[in-house]
Amino acid sequence: MAVLSHFVVVLSFVSLSFFPNACLAASEMNAIDQCWKLNTIWRRSRQQLATCSVGFAGKMANNVGRDVILYKATDVIIHGLRIHHCKAHSQMDGDAIRLVSASKVWIDHNTLFSCQDGLLDVTRGSTFVTVSNNWFRDQDKVMLLGHDDGFLRDKDMKVTVAFNHFGPNCNQRMPRVRHGYAHVTNNLYQGWEQYAIGGSMSPSIKSESNYFIAPKSGKKEVTWRNGIYEKSKPWNFYSVGDLFTNGASFFQSGRRGMARPNYTKEQSFKVGDAKSVKTLTSSAGALKCSRTLRC
Ligand SMILES: *[C@@H]1O[C@H](CO)[C@@H](O)[C@H](O)[C@H]1NC(C)=O
Repeated sequence: MAVLSHFVVVLSFVSLSFFPNACLAASEMNAIDQCWKLNTIWRRSRQQLATCSVGFAGKMANNVGRDVILYKATDVIIHGLRIHHCKAHSQMDGDAIRLVSASKVWIDHNTLFSCQDGLLDVTRGSTFVTVSNNWFRDQDKVMLLGHDDGFLRDKDMKVTVAFNHFGPNCNQRMPRVRHGYAHVTNNLYQGWEQYAIGGSMSPSIKSESNYFIAPKSGKKEVTWRNGIYEKSKPWNFYSVGDLFTNGASFFQSGRRGMARPNYTKEQSFKVGDAKSVKTLTSSAGALKCSRTLRC
């Protein structure tokens, strides 16, 4: 476990050597990108990024220079990485990014694809995580929030999944949630094979203003539930403002109120209209390095 936490920390130092993409007008950028991309001297003020995170990770401020190795990882930004074709070996399952008992982690603007196991695993009581502006593609199991059905500590897990681009060629788990809570908003779903959003152990999910493009043939249903539905523990799967195309459908269950994120002022952010999701996610993934600001 220590090795894996260490892995996460190391990633956070390998970031931030890019120029901002000035192609989109401010009004076309999502709430996170608006916070830093408009700063033309961004390279000289990289620490500003720490003030731009929203969702459950909250702000990353006050962690400058802190040595987090040997501690459980906290206040970590994983930004601007391309990770692909990872293979399992002795310590790792073949995931692109795995969080172990980590909290306040912001995973933003990475491109993740074609790994042996999954692209992102949030496990063992990890919580207060924001997954934003990433491009996930060409993958069977994309994102696992909560590692096993028996790990009850994941009941407290809270994850925000916003402004990501899923696809093409993603099969399932965008995300799969066990026990905890996920606010899944303003993401672009470019098809799926088995399902897009699902879970087990009565998780709560609020799906808000996402753009779902169902595959041409095969399953049109966005959601998937594994396990027995108990009346006493309703699965709160709630969809609001989502856009469904190609016949996509979303089976809702449980109670709406239970699926509210209840963000603090620091965590809350502006959710765009589902119709604008293609624009809001158009710069998802690792940013391209360039010598000029031209795109
Ligand atoms: C938000 O508050 C409601 C009402 O108190 C509660 O039922 C729900 O579980 C809360 N949501 C989260 C993510 O904790």
